[in-house]
Amino acid sequence: MPVRARRLIRKMRGGAQAHLLEGEDGAFYVAKFINNPQHRRILINEWLAAEFLRYLQIHVPDTALIELTPEFIAGNTELYFSIGSRREPVAPGIHFGSRMAVHPDRVAIFDFLPDKLLAKIENRVDFLGTLVFDKWVGNADSRQAVFFRARAKAWTPLKGEAPSRIGFFAQMIDHGFSFNGPHWNFQDSPIQGLYFRTSVYDEVRSLDSFEPWLTMVRNFPLEVVDAAWKGIPRQWLENDDDALEQLLETLVKRRAKVADLIHDAWRKRASAFANWR
Ligand SMILES: Nc1ncnc2c1ncn2[C@@H]1O[C@H](COP(=O)(O)OP(=O)(O)OP(=O)(O)O)[C@@H](O)[C@H]1O
Ligand SMILES: [Mg+2]
Repeated sequence: MPVRARRLIRKMRGGAQAHLLEGEDGAFYVAKFINNPQHRRILINEWLAAEFLRYLQIHVPDTALIELTPEFIAGNTELYFSIGSRREPVAPGIHFGSRMAVHPDRVAIFDFLPDKLLAKIENRVDFLGTLVFDKWVGNADSRQAVFFRARAKAWTPLKGEAPSRIGFFAQMIDHGFSFNGPHWNFQDSPIQGLYFRTSVYDEVRSLDSFEPWLTMVRNFPLEVVDAAWKGIPRQWLENDDDALEQLLETLVKRRAKVADLIHDAWRKRASAFANWR
């Protein structure tokens, strides 16, 4: 069931011109709209990526389908895309929402942390798993995450101890350029997908450091791919059924290639992996 938007809060930074909205469920969502300036396919990419990352037990925001009614759009004149000096209206219908993990007025959410704090993130290893993911889906963007302080609740790490204290957590965001964004192909540039603060890769000693995610991706269940596909709203697909089927077939074939792609990243950008020799 989609969540209806009930309040527009503000426009966010970024090329998709996402907006922060409050839903009728009382939660806050960063929404990317179907007619955003990047491409309609960005929503499909976001949707699939979140489903796949969840299977890999990497922390991502909850996602939702967000409904904008014509009345909501008519009542919020601050809701529009800026295209040069023009204003483009946002279309009514079903859009993509990435749910904020905390109340944005009560808990600070950061786009960046200084290295000193990055070293202390409770789920730091997620950056290793996410590189495996980003290589698999050919994320043409750099890695992006948000950070906030919270107490570990439903904590299911694949590596390391379960922390009970309050600490900084990272959630991986912005998967619009998985599959090379609107292009739905795989460029496989060795340096794409890396996080700009490479200290998050300091634990990497060899390819083995990317386990268990390399094995999880190599054996990625087709049922998870299928279930993710089925969750995509019809309106987002237009005439893309065949193209999407082809994309997912290629993705499944690429599962075995990811270790090589990470190896290429190391060869081309050894400086990102200070302790991998
Ligand atoms: N779930 C979330 N929780 C908190 N903040 C979020 C969440 N999702 C997105 N944001 C915020 O919204 C901003 C825009 O989101 P995002 O980076 O996905 O958009 P974009 O337009 O694709 O950006 P880019 O130009 O980098 O491609 C982020 O920089 C981040 O600050
Ligand atoms: Mg972004």
